[in-house]
Amino acid sequence: MFAIAIDGPAGAGKSTIARKVAAELSIIYVDTGAMYRAIGAYAIRQGVDTKNAPAVAALLPEISLELTYSEELGQRIFLNGEDVSSEIRLPEMGMAASNVSAIPEVRAFLLEQQRGMAKRQSVIMDGRDIGTVVLPDAEVKIFLTASAEERARRRWKEFSEKGLPDTYEEILADVIRRDEQDMNRPIAPLKQADDAILLDSTALNFAETVEKVKEIIKERV
Ligand code: DC
Repeated sequence: MFAIAIDGPAGAGKSTIARKVAAELSIIYVDTGAMYRAIGAYAIRQGVDTKNAPAVAALLPEISLELTYSEELGQRIFLNGEDVSSEIRLPEMGMAASNVSAIPEVRAFLLEQQRGMAKRQSVIMDGRDIGTVVLPDAEVKIFLTASAEERARRRWKEFSEKGLPDTYEEILADVIRRDEQDMNRPIAPLKQADDAILLDSTALNFAETVEKVKEIIKERV
């Protein structure tokens, strides 16, 4: 059994890469960002301000999350039994997730679940604090990044393919603001672990990035 941790800023391509590598290695992919997004979505549904720490923390006992995987549907996330996988990808959910992720009770709530998943099976897990906090003993740690402009360009392409109206400038502003917030929070900030390999994908395409990640993994497991 082994664990692969992939951390990095918003839009660096972590989830697309991790999903591909997981399929090739036949291991489980855990998208921790989706868990923060689902909590953000629940707060919004309840009319709770995602920055209001006590109010968001008070919602946690009502929340049950489940990540599932199947060949046809891929990875899905269920919030109290309801599939919210599409809802959490709406552009405003990124910032909602970043807001709730700064709340200590929210992080503690998810930390247990995330560690539990890696105890039972080999995983590739992506997020912001996987190599530093969640799985500090992971066999492989990769910090995947790219310039803010390139990350915004990729997001913009993804959103426009879905028919979402957000402009490149709006997405770039969101990416920069979210990174700032994720890097500067007091607990488990976005940070490269000392023993993580830095991989900058600004000048790499998807296939090249997957190859690099696989090379790094092969050297270590
Ligand atoms: O990876 P993502 O864009 O889906 O993550 C959404 C937000 O969740 C991100 O801005 C910060 C937070 N997050 C976190 O704090 N820790 C993680 N391990 C994963 C995500």
